[in-house]
Amino acid sequence: MEIHPITPDLIPAAAALWHEAGLTRPWNDPIRDAEGALAGPTSTVLGLVEAGTLRATAMAGHDGHRGWIYYVAVREADRGRGLGRAIIEAAEGWLAAEGALKVQLMVRNTNTAVIDFYERLGYEDAEVTVLGKWLSVSPTV
Ligand SMILES: CC(C)(COP(=O)(O)OP(=O)(O)OC[C@H]1O[C@@H](n2cnc3c(N)ncnc32)[C@H](O)[C@@H]1OP(=O)(O)O)[C@@H](O)C(=O)NCCC(=O)NCCS
Repeated sequence: MEIHPITPDLIPAAAALWHEAGLTRPWNDPIRDAEGALAGPTSTVLGLVEAGTLRATAMAGHDGHRGWIYYVAVREADRGRGLGRAIIEAAEGWLAAEGALKVQLMVRNTNTAVIDFYERLGYEDAEVTVLGKWLSVSPTV
C-alpha cells in the first residue's frame, strides 16, 4: 500500500471515487477541484494505491497555520480495513511537514454518521459555524 500525491492521470479515478462515496454535488466540479489542489504548492490530493487501484483519497491544503482536509473517501469495497485512518494520518503528516499547526475539516450536516469515525481519530467538535458565499456567478463552480 502506498500513499502519495496523485498524478493527473488518476484524477478521473479520484472523481469517480468521490462520486461513489456521495461527496460530489452538482454545483462542484470534482475534476476542477482536484486540478486546482494539485496545481498549487500549499495543497495536494493524496491517493492510497494498492495493487494498482486507487482505493482512498484525501485532499489537503493550508494557510501556513491551519490545515484543512477534504474529499476523504475510501472505496466502498475497501471500508473497514483501516484505509480511512491511513489516508487521514497521511494527510495530517503532509500538513505537519508543510508547517501547519492544526487540522480542521468540515462534515456536512447530512453526514453525521461519519462523526464517530473522526472521533476515533482524535477529532472533536470545534464548536464553530461555517459561513460561505459564492465568489462566482457560474453555476458550475
Ligand atoms: C468515513 C470513511 C472514510 C471511513 O473509512 P474506513 O476505511 O472504513 O475507516 P477505517 O477502517 O480506517 O476506520 C478507522 C476507525 O474508525 C472507525 N469507523 C470507521 N467508520 C465508522 C463509522 N461509520 N462509524 C463509527 N466508527 C467508524 C473504525 O472502527 C476504526 O476504528 P479503530 O481504528 O479505532 O478500530 C468511509 O466510510 C467513507 O469513505 N465514507 C464515505 C465518504 C465520507 O463520508 N467521507 C467523509 C466526508 S467528511
